[in-house]
Amino acid sequence: MSNIAIIGTGYVGLVTGVVLSEIGNTVTCIDIDENKVRILQRGQSPIYEPGLDELMVKNIDAKRLFFTTNHKEALANSNIIFIAVGTPQSESGAADLTYIKQAAKDIALNIVKDTIVVVKSTVPVGTNDLVESIIKEHLITNRKVDVVSNPEFLREGHAIQDTFYGDRIVIGAENNEAGNTIKKLFKPLNLPIVQTNRRSAEMIKYAANAFLAVKISYINEIANLCEAMDANVLDVAEGMGLDHRIGRAFLNPGLGYGGSCFPKDTEAIAYLGREYCAPLTIVENAIKANFRQREIFLQKVLNYFDGNLEGKIIGMLGLSFKPNTDDLREAPSVYLIEELEKRGAIVKAYDPVVKHLPQCVEHFDEVINNSNIVLLVTEWEEFKSLEIPANKLFDGRYFLKK
Ligand code: UGA
Repeated sequence: MSNIAIIGTGYVGLVTGVVLSEIGNTVTCIDIDENKVRILQRGQSPIYEPGLDELMVKNIDAKRLFFTTNHKEALANSNIIFIAVGTPQSESGAADLTYIKQAAKDIALNIVKDTIVVVKSTVPVGTNDLVESIIKEHLITNRKVDVVSNPEFLREGHAIQDTFYGDRIVIGAENNEAGNTIKKLFKPLNLPIVQTNRRSAEMIKYAANAFLAVKISYINEIANLCEAMDANVLDVAEGMGLDHRIGRAFLNPGLGYGGSCFPKDTEAIAYLGREYCAPLTIVENAIKANFRQREIFLQKVLNYFDGNLEGKIIGMLGLSFKPNTDDLREAPSVYLIEELEKRGAIVKAYDPVVKHLPQCVEHFDEVINNSNIVLLVTEWEEFKSLEIPANKLFDGRYFLKK
């Protein structure tokens, strides 16, 4: 079993750490935020993710899972170090690599034994090479360091399930021995493993996310056409999805993709396409279609009130960018609230998990009974049984529509 350090306790880092400890490794997760580390040490996850807290408590109690702010000690004691820091979108659309570069430097300055560094963060093609060169430049010992790419494919809200029962594990290595060590690390998960060079592994992650984003934008545009032509997009998705070459997954029409991944990753790969003169026109258009989807929905609401929202009470069901998460990043709800309020509407929103926005009310009854119209913005399962008069409902997710 290995001694593992994980830099970054966001979504990816925390779940990776918990799962690697669950399969028997000793894992120390590092974060600079003392308050966050104290919460984590108590076995409480700062993010809402079904099943995560239980696994944290179990492995903390078994003394396999630790959290610390002391990166020096954690890095020195590990033979495998995962980098799982954020790669936010910069002004140009490109991924901002500041945290990645800092992590590489920290590793170089603190390791005392031969180490494999695994890059889990979603990073542009060539970043693993950059991490290797930063480490080599700053290394203070003559230890051997290999850098291996191991992109993450988990979805928020299904993170534990996706990690234990994912479709594949991708390992990108230039050195076979290092690649095989990481392969062995994940062997207990018993999942198909794709072993490639580092650049291909980095590309697999972006290409997969962008493809899924394209699939969503495609079905959204088909949904708009269906609506105009009196066809039922859910039946169309069903009929298309049964073709194995297409598949039913990610053909759910709605308000467009949000969250911390698809919006950022589509921009980042589109940026790479422009930079390297291999334009990704399909991805570029999927991005545009994604934004248009929210505008079209807003326009439907405006049309309903003849363009005048002044004093109208608009109920909103669901705030998170998708069900089973409390994440509001790039959530259509945020855009809609802003646009509606800008035009004088009063928004009353209910979400099973998100409770902190000023628009939030205690119970969905308040949203349904005390509003002029109701917008279904996130398809939480508990909304399925709600009775909402058809003339009052704007179902942004085709969830209550028959
Ligand atoms: C996504 C990918 O699915 C993961 O494989 C990947 O690891 C992750 O990004 C990442 O790069 O870290 P996530 O953003 O958590 O995961 O959520 P998804 O379930 O993929 O949903 C993304 C967005 O697409 C949501 O806004 C969702 O509402 C929307 N969506 C999804 C649709 O509008 N229709 C669909 O049929 C499916």
